[in-house]
Amino acid sequence: MMAKTYFGLEGVLAKELQVLGARNVKAANRAVFFEGDLGFVYKANLWTRTALRILVPIAHFKIRNEEELYRKLKEVAWEDYFEVTKTFVIDANVFARQYKNSLFIAQRSKDAVVDRFREKSGRRPSVHTQNPDIRINVHIANEKVTVSLDSSGESLHKRGYRTEADRAPISEVLAAGILKLSGWDALRDFVDPMCGSGTFLVEAALMAHNIPANIFRKDFAFKNWKGFDQELFGLLFDKALEKEKNFHFNIYGFDRSAMVLRKTQKNLRNALMLEQVQTEQADFMEFTRPEYFRDHGLVVFNPPYGEKMEADIPELYRGIGDTLKREFAGFEVWLFTSSAEGLKNVGLKPSKKIQLYNGKLESWLVKYEVYEGSKKHT
Ligand SMILES: C[S@@+](CC[C@H](N)C(=O)[O-])C[C@H]1O[C@@H](n2cnc3c(N)ncnc32)[C@H](O)[C@@H]1O
Repeated sequence: MMAKTYFGLEGVLAKELQVLGARNVKAANRAVFFEGDLGFVYKANLWTRTALRILVPIAHFKIRNEEELYRKLKEVAWEDYFEVTKTFVIDANVFARQYKNSLFIAQRSKDAVVDRFREKSGRRPSVHTQNPDIRINVHIANEKVTVSLDSSGESLHKRGYRTEADRAPISEVLAAGILKLSGWDALRDFVDPMCGSGTFLVEAALMAHNIPANIFRKDFAFKNWKGFDQELFGLLFDKALEKEKNFHFNIYGFDRSAMVLRKTQKNLRNALMLEQVQTEQADFMEFTRPEYFRDHGLVVFNPPYGEKMEADIPELYRGIGDTLKREFAGFEVWLFTSSAEGLKNVGLKPSKKIQLYNGKLESWLVKYEVYEGSKKHT
């Protein structure tokens, strides 16, 4: 099988899959290959925090042209995989010079599926590009074709808890990946001082309580497959609920905007984490360390990065650096941003810098260890 992810998260996803029980796990480019049974497909969809979708291959073959693709796709017993009453869509990824247009490939693939059903039963399934029941992935690399069923459907970053989004919310999968890269272990306090819609807070809390990332999500494409094993899925779901752990530290979220904090709280409530996470209005520029803060906490945040937001980036990042030095001695800080200019102005020496992408924007996850003496060195 193959799990897709973002650039830079392949390693953490491979680890996640291994821990869940996948066999033969191999990280690739924006993807991880692995082996597992049908139950594992359900489990991977429920539990993995850094996968975008899980693909299950059903056919491999070679082709020389589009007509051969059509013929070979028509030989796949589609009626064994889904009922004619289901809607479907084809996603085509084409890495071959002779096929100019992946849209055309998707079109021909769709014809093959539809014609197969029509010839077998006299009826044809409909295509739905928005919200189809079944997603089929046709991957062409030169002459090699892999046909897969997408077991997830909508991207797994759509967890189901984030009904409120402010400007520039971070993808849930990216947020979870950043937390994994930061080494969030739930053995200390966690702080997001610019929490926006609260994605880091929810993901950190779900991890701390060992609650599956997609426990709140209703739809998975595998539920529409012909062989969907409701009983097995129910069993895995109930087992997942039993794995919840106690968390003995605190998670704090701050934002300067009261309006944004109301959104944070709504999302936290959706994820049943409102009582587990403390939120408060505070401007980071004037932040003073609250008495209830314990030492050695983990700070993870993504400040405005200048893309859609009006902010004086150098001034903002200078202020961030000043507050970190003044109020966060003894903390480990991870800052995620697409602003190279911003980073130059923090005035702290990074001890690690990891390249990632935020959508199409090149971004960096930067680690600062703030010591008592940090102030003197700048
Ligand atoms: C890029 S967004 C964070 C997105 C967030 N991680 C999420 O999941 O939605 C940046 C946030 O920083 C907040 N912010 C900007 N300047 C701030 C300041 N001086 N103090 C505290 N929060 C600030 C904004 O209100 C906004 O919510």
